This record gives sequence, structure tokens and C-alpha cells, in this order.
Amino acid sequence: MNQDFTVTPWDVSGKIDYRKLIEEFGTEPIDDELLARWQRITGSLPFALRRKIFFSHRDLKWVLDRYEAGEKFVLYTGRGPSGHTHLGHLMPWMFTKYLQDTFDAPLYFQMTDDEKFMYKPELSQKDAMSFAYENALDVIALGFDPEKTRIFSDYEYSKTLYRIATEVAKKITFSTAKAVFGFDNSTNIGMIFFTSVQSAPAFLPSVEAGRNVPVLIPQAIDQDPHFRVTRDIAPKLGYYKPAAIHCTFLPGLAGSDKMSASKPEMTIYTIDDPKTARKKVLSAFTGGRTSVQEQKEQGGTPSVCAVFQYYYYLFEADQEKLDDRERRCVRGEIMCGECKQELADRVVRFLEKHQENREKARDRVEDFLVSDYSAVYDKLKRPQDKKEVAKLKKTMKEYCSVKEGDRISVEKCKQFK
Ligand code: TRP
Repeated sequence: MNQDFTVTPWDVSGKIDYRKLIEEFGTEPIDDELLARWQRITGSLPFALRRKIFFSHRDLKWVLDRYEAGEKFVLYTGRGPSGHTHLGHLMPWMFTKYLQDTFDAPLYFQMTDDEKFMYKPELSQKDAMSFAYENALDVIALGFDPEKTRIFSDYEYSKTLYRIATEVAKKITFSTAKAVFGFDNSTNIGMIFFTSVQSAPAFLPSVEAGRNVPVLIPQAIDQDPHFRVTRDIAPKLGYYKPAAIHCTFLPGLAGSDKMSASKPEMTIYTIDDPKTARKKVLSAFTGGRTSVQEQKEQGGTPSVCAVFQYYYYLFEADQEKLDDRERRCVRGEIMCGECKQELADRVVRFLEKHQENREKARDRVEDFLVSDYSAVYDKLKRPQDKKEVAKLKKTMKEYCSVKEGDRISVEKCKQFK
């Protein structure tokens, strides 16, 4: 890429020109016509769409056509569990929750612990799985419907995913993988195969239903290369191409690049205690003037201000209030300190509520997590003859004998010890 930003599934940096990205990736912009249609179908327009935080798509019109014709779609999204969740991760997940509510759609949520293990030299399998569990708590805390949501880790759902993954892998050449992801001879071969694992859940609903089911994948735009490949090979396997809706990245508190685990002091984690979070907000970059006097005379610059971005992306849903804040800033009527304090209050309030839900989620994880053993476990809950019960229990015991921490379904196993 001959420019000053990079967007790949494993590296996002620089000042991103999203319009250019649409051209380069070959996606479609979410335009006003599509927004009007969205409004017509759903009766409302969330600010993430109105503000074009979700700005790009593939085949969204097709999914809506199907939906209007009475064919429901399934949602699929995921997370690479390489660390704790931060606010940037929550953005697409919150939008996914909105989609689930609005379209009454089931959600498949993939935790790619295998991907992160293979990508990160220092990350152990155990740690990746443990982050998968921790991240799942954040997903659940957002209020997804347990009846319609399944969360799985690749390690724990591999029997289910592997056959689909190899169907996919068989259709992708090394030269395609190199061209799409920029792999070279030093890339480990696990990473080369991995894209087929991320493709698999896009076809799982169809495999399970025994007929084609439309799938919509909400995602940050960096994941698009994966699904470009998925969509390419889908017809070769007889599946629908999954549709996609892409969001931009939440900037870090330094104001430029995306919020990222590589800059922990510029990143708000969902597990940050209120004091830490407040401190981070108060030290955010605003681009404010050097003195109150100057600020009053010349005003601030919301377009470069990280604090304003946080209102824009997450913490001020009301458009009039956001516009008003912008106006007051430009006119020098509101000082950076005040603006930061208000944001800090909102962030802290959000975190306190989220953390409460996150703790409650610990008792509900098993309502969401599925693994290759879920079917066995569920069968045990139904009446069975004695011999069958013994067999099923033996299978569960085998599964649960794996060291704790090497599975993410901890609770399920307690009774089989
Ligand atoms: N690879 C993604 C990541 O690193 C996780 C992921 C898996 C995902 N499946 C997805 C993200 C589908 C969006 C949509 O975060």
C-alpha cells in the first residue's frame, strides 16, 4: 500500500482514509439511500449508522431484500482473544446487539483463540483460551439473548468447524492467501490456513439447516480481507455469499490511531477500575490552547480532539447535544477540562454498570457457550436409559479431565469431576 496508513487483520496503524479503503477493498459505501431504506424497514436509525461509524458494506441490500421477502438472516461476528476487552471492541458488539434485537436474529460469536495463539509468539494456548472466557463475559454483559446467541472458542468447537474449514481451505490457493494477506515465506503455515477457520462459521448456519441461510457479518473493516476470500469461494461450495457491514475504529485517547492494546495508557479496558479510567480520560489529547484566555478567544478543534471523538463514537447518542457541544467548543465557550470531566463521569458510569453485568455474566456463561461437547451435555439433561447415561457421562468426564484453564467451559465441568 502506497500510503501512510495500514489496515490488515493483524495491523492497523496511521491516519486511516476510510473512503480510500472502500475503493481499495472494493466494498460499497453506506449511502443516504440505504439509510433511508433502513429507517423505513426498522422504523429508526441508530447513531452508529447515522454518523456513518458503520460506513461500508457488502451485499447489505441483498440481505435486506431477503429479509423483506420473509427470509431471516443469521448474525456472525467474533473476537481474537489476545487480551482484555477495551471500549473499541465493544463498538461493533453493541451494534450487533442492536441488530439482534431489531431483526430478531440468532448470533454466532467466534473466539479465535487458535488465531491469536499462532499469531502472537509469546501467547500460550492457555492464555488465549482464558482471554476467550474473559472476553465472553464482556459479550454477555452487553445483554445478548441467550436463546439466540452461541459463543464458541475455535479450540473447543473444532470438531464442528473443522470439516467446513477444510472444505473452504481446499478452494483457496497459497497464492490467493499471499496476495490477500501479504504473507511471505516466513509466515507460519497455521496463519496461512487460518482464514478458512474464520470462514467456517459463515457457513455453519446453512450446514445445520440443510439449506442456504443468509448471514450478515458485522465487523471492523480490518476483517474484510478474510471475508473477501470467504465470499469468493462460497458459490464454489454451493453456499450464499455472507454479507458484511463494516465499522471504523475507535481512536485511542491520544487522538490519532485506533484504540489499541499496544498503548494501554491510551486505552480504556472494560476491567479498568473507575479511578484508572478517569485518569486516562483526564489525560486524553484535546488539542486545546495553551491558556484559558487563548481557548476563550480562539476556541477548540473538535476534529482533532480525542475527547470529542469519544462523545461522537460512544458517549453522546443525542445528535443535537453533540452538535451543541461542538459549537460551544469551537466558540471557546467550553473549556477542555470541563469537557473531559463530563466524559470521565459518563465513562465511569458506563464501566460501573458494565462491570456489574460482567460479574453477573459469570453465572450465565454456560447459557451462551457451546463446544463440541454441548450436544452430549444437553443429551444428558434429557431422560436416557442407564447404559446411555453411563456412556455420555464417560464422554463428559474425558472432556472435563483436561486441565482447568485448557477449556473455557469451566462451569459445565464441575459436576463431572
Ligand atoms: N479475527 C478476528 C479478530 O482478530 C475475530 C473474528 C473471528 C471476527 N470471526 C469474526 C471478527 C467475524 C469479526 C467478524 O478480532
